[in-house]
Amino acid sequence: MADSINVPQFPEPYWRDSVSFDSYPKLTGTIKDTDVAIVGGGITGITAAYLLTKEGLKVTLIDAGVILNGVTGHTTAKITAQHGIIYDELIQHFGKEQASLYYQACMEAKKLIEDTIEKHDISCNYQTEDSFIYTNSEKYQSKLDTEKNAYDELDIPGELTNDIPIGLPVKAALKMKDQAQFHPLKYLKVLVDEAVKNGLKIYENTTATDVEYNKHPAIITRDEHRIHCRYVIQATHYPFYDGQGFYPTRMYPERSYVVAVKTPVKYPGGMYINAESPTRSLRSEEVNGEELWLFVGENHKTGQGGSTMKHYDALQQYAEEKFGISEYVYRWSAQDLTTLDKVPYIGPVTDEEEAVFVATGYRKWGMTNGTIAAKILSDRILDKESPYAELFSPSRFHADPAIRKFTSANADVAKHLIKGKLEYTNDNVKDLSTDDATVTRVKGKRTGVYKDKENILYAVDTTCKHLGCEVHWNSGDRTWDCPCHGSRYSYTGEVIEGPAVEPLNKVKLE
Ligand code: FES
Repeated sequence: MADSINVPQFPEPYWRDSVSFDSYPKLTGTIKDTDVAIVGGGITGITAAYLLTKEGLKVTLIDAGVILNGVTGHTTAKITAQHGIIYDELIQHFGKEQASLYYQACMEAKKLIEDTIEKHDISCNYQTEDSFIYTNSEKYQSKLDTEKNAYDELDIPGELTNDIPIGLPVKAALKMKDQAQFHPLKYLKVLVDEAVKNGLKIYENTTATDVEYNKHPAIITRDEHRIHCRYVIQATHYPFYDGQGFYPTRMYPERSYVVAVKTPVKYPGGMYINAESPTRSLRSEEVNGEELWLFVGENHKTGQGGSTMKHYDALQQYAEEKFGISEYVYRWSAQDLTTLDKVPYIGPVTDEEEAVFVATGYRKWGMTNGTIAAKILSDRILDKESPYAELFSPSRFHADPAIRKFTSANADVAKHLIKGKLEYTNDNVKDLSTDDATVTRVKGKRTGVYKDKENILYAVDTTCKHLGCEVHWNSGDRTWDCPCHGSRYSYTGEVIEGPAVEPLNKVKLE
């Protein structure tokens, strides 16, 4: 690895660093008369707010932090129906008709984004690009052949080739023409402005903790305020309100990493992802006339990836080896949720609660899945039929092969629950280096301690506030991450990502 390359000290996504947003107040009272309350200011929540306010509905959107700083702010921002190798599996699991609807849903999301860009003349680096899944392994070559057969069965335009524009060795690649990429926050900033013009009310630093019912639902916030409404859209990545839909048992969280670098090589166009592990995904973004190459990959289950810096290092090394790095500009990580059958859950939280919706489990494909989720849920609220409602319904349950994954996902959670409790810790806090963390015991309780650059110690009880697993230190992002369902906390214990809604307990060090 080139020694002269400076690694960015703190993780920060390029998207967020290149756009500024207005800030919005915290909710300080009860809201009595909104039609739709949206929780979560990412692509799903903001697109839904845009679509619904355009139709004259009163919409309130709250975010536990600030808008567009969650998963949407950490995406790779590919707008494509090529979601890895998926279509053969969808045919096997759902049948041809539903598999075809999945493709159409992605393409409709792409069209909605394009039409919105055109309508508001949004300058967001939108660019049409071909998308490629490539492999240099013989085993995966036959998988690409099978996937191409699935494309043919579903009338998806695709082409098998062994010649891709980028300088990587390949045995085969499956190309989907005319997909796209953009700067997601430049796009969504305009949607926020339009929705606010149409009456959207936004409250930041306002955490939803529960839903209660009278005749209609009401969101309860951590400060005990209520938002009374006709419909609730949970666009929070992980639903904060489960309604006994058992979502923690039906999804698992994964983290992935992005390094954004300049290289001496000219980017030849295209968006790429390999078929095998470890994942390597690639696209570029023009920044002030220069190309930024985004290398993405190193996926692992949240809280189970060991030292997280090693994942950034692996991507840096890959970029250096394949193309060379002239400047290492940004690094950031993202969290994605995968459902048991890999299709998102979009619709009522349970069959009984038809006014409270979820939109979650986008795997790594939030731009298309988040946009179509906003469209499906808005259509439902506006009493319009959606051809995609059944496919994405959270109540679907296809026993095979999901049941096996159901069992193994929960066995994994049980393993971490027990292992975390029994873990032996003997680290001495006195020996802790600056900007590092350790796990120790304080009065017998497992305690996480982080020492910041000024040598100030922050100690938290490492018992996750969701269902009680033990959180692990993520050195790359300086967070405490839960291996069970992916809750993440800052080093001070504040919730960064659910399903947990309450902060970790603080611990007093003697
Ligand atoms: Fe479920 Fe931590 S996220 S126990």
